[in-house]
Parts: sequence; C-alpha cells; structure tokens
Amino acid sequence: MGAVTTYRGHAAGKVILLGEHAVVYGSPALVVGLDRGASAELQLSDMAELSLGGARHPLGSAASAESLPARAFQALLQLFSAPHVTARVTLELPPGAGLGASAAIGVALARALTELTLARGLSAPPLAEAALAWENVFHGNASGVDTAAAEHGGYLWFRRGSAPEQLQPAQPLTLLVALVQSGASTRQMVEGVAARRAAQPARVEALLAEIGVLVEAARLCLLAGEHAQLGQLMSRNHRLLVELGVSTPALDHAVNVAEAAGALGAKLTGAGGGGCVVALASAAQAARVHEAWRGLGLSCWPPSS
Ligand code: PMV
Repeated sequence: MGAVTTYRGHAAGKVILLGEHAVVYGSPALVVGLDRGASAELQLSDMAELSLGGARHPLGSAASAESLPARAFQALLQLFSAPHVTARVTLELPPGAGLGASAAIGVALARALTELTLARGLSAPPLAEAALAWENVFHGNASGVDTAAAEHGGYLWFRRGSAPEQLQPAQPLTLLVALVQSGASTRQMVEGVAARRAAQPARVEALLAEIGVLVEAARLCLLAGEHAQLGQLMSRNHRLLVELGVSTPALDHAVNVAEAAGALGAKLTGAGGGGCVVALASAAQAARVHEAWRGLGLSCWPPSS
C-alpha cells in the first residue's frame, strides 16, 4: 500500500483593535494578526470527517446535520469538489473568545484543501471565498474581517467588500489580552445590534458612524507611532460599544482595571457579550496591567507572557 499524503495549512488568530460591529455596516476595522492560530492536516480517504480539538464530526450522519463544524466542513469540501477527506485541526487559541479561532480554522483547512486540490491537478477557489463559506455557517452575516486577518496576519486595514490593506506601524504595539468570560455567539451579538438599529436607526447609525471616525483616526496614529492617542481611541471605542449594547459588566471592569493600571487604552475585542479585553500598553506598563488583571483572577493571553 502506498503512503498516504498529508496536506497541511496554518492560519493566524486576531484581535480587532478598533471597529467591530461597525465593520458589518461598511466602516473600516483595524485588526492585528496573532502568531498563534490553527493548524490543519488532511488526507484523501474513503470517508469524510473533521476532527476538531479531540471531537470527531463525521459527515453524512444524522448528527452531522446538527453540527456546525460538520456543516462548515461540508461547505468547504463542496467548494473544493473533494468529497472524501479526513481532517484534523489543532487549535492554538481559546475558542469562542473573539480571538478569531473559527476563522483561523477555516483558513487553515482551506489552505490544506488548496494544496490537495492542486496536487490532484484541479484548480482551487480563492482562499478568501473558501474561508467565508466556512465562516458564514457560523456567523450568517460575517463581514470577513476575521477571515482576512487569518489569511494575511500582520496589521490589517479591512473594509467589507474591498481588498484588505497591510499597514506598517511606525513601531510595533504592545498588546495584552485578558480572557474575561466565555464568549457569546457572534451571530447573536450581530443580530442584537441589527435589532437595535432597526428599533432606533438614528441613534445606532450615529454610534456606528462615530466608531468609523475613530478607526480612521487610529490608522493615522498607528502609522505615526502615536500610541498614547491610539490608546485613547481604543478606550473611546469601548464606550461606544457599551452604548451599542454589546459589553458586559465584567468586560467593563477589566477595561477599567487595565486603564487604572496604566494602560494607554483598553476595550472589548470581537463580538462582545463576553470574551476578551485587549489593552495597549507601553513596554514599561505592560507587566503592571498583567498583574492587575491577574489580581482579578483573569487569565492573560498568550499564556506565557
Ligand atoms: O467573531 P468575533 O467575536 O471576532 O467578531 C467578529 C467581528 C464582528 O464585527 C462582531 C462581526 C463581523 O463579522 O465583522
């Protein structure tokens, strides 16, 4: 029997620096890729199955119709015309915390499937399209910011429907992340904002527009190395997310504690309703922010810092 070829892909997680939710409605977002993400390994097989964090999701069973990962994997296999593939995904990020784990898995799988498809002499769909096919099973109305960050990494300027732009910061940012609560469903949080927008269009449009203005200003600060101002914009963005109804008391407390410990700015990151807080700090203050968060019993990410 010949050796079975393994195809591999990797993709980055992300933190949204500014602009979540408003990005769904066409505002830009600033996002930073993380060096940890997801790795996928796959092989041609006589069956189709996704193994994710130790849980197995066989396709074609009654249970697979109920399993979102199985349905998302099925959508990918259809796009790549590769019906019989077994895949194993290793996650280097906490799932469901707003750090882009789901998009990283989708892009890692799409990269490995691209390798497999080219090896079969077939042409592969564009990576961004494939990643969105995966992500839309979970999110419904995903802007594409997570999958763009997973694909490109680095400092990324993203606007829905446009090609993402890689930015070169004047100096790299010292970003700290605290895992505050288990995350809420992104789909539900996005639907909640849509419902509030339908109920109070003028108020919610004004909040979304102000977030867009902050993101534009933040881009200039990033490029100019104005980290103190960038931090203030992040904190202001958090207050607007509070008004948008997507924060929680625990997220607000983690933001306040980071600011009191000397962070230049802090905010929830991702869809909210739980999940993570990101803080920008000077190198000198970073340890104090971490210490303050650990004093609250929060775990900080990455775990080694
Ligand atoms: O999935 P999360 O928690 O990273 O949130 C994604 C960002 C949102 O703006 C809330 C949704 C989207 O599709 O842009």
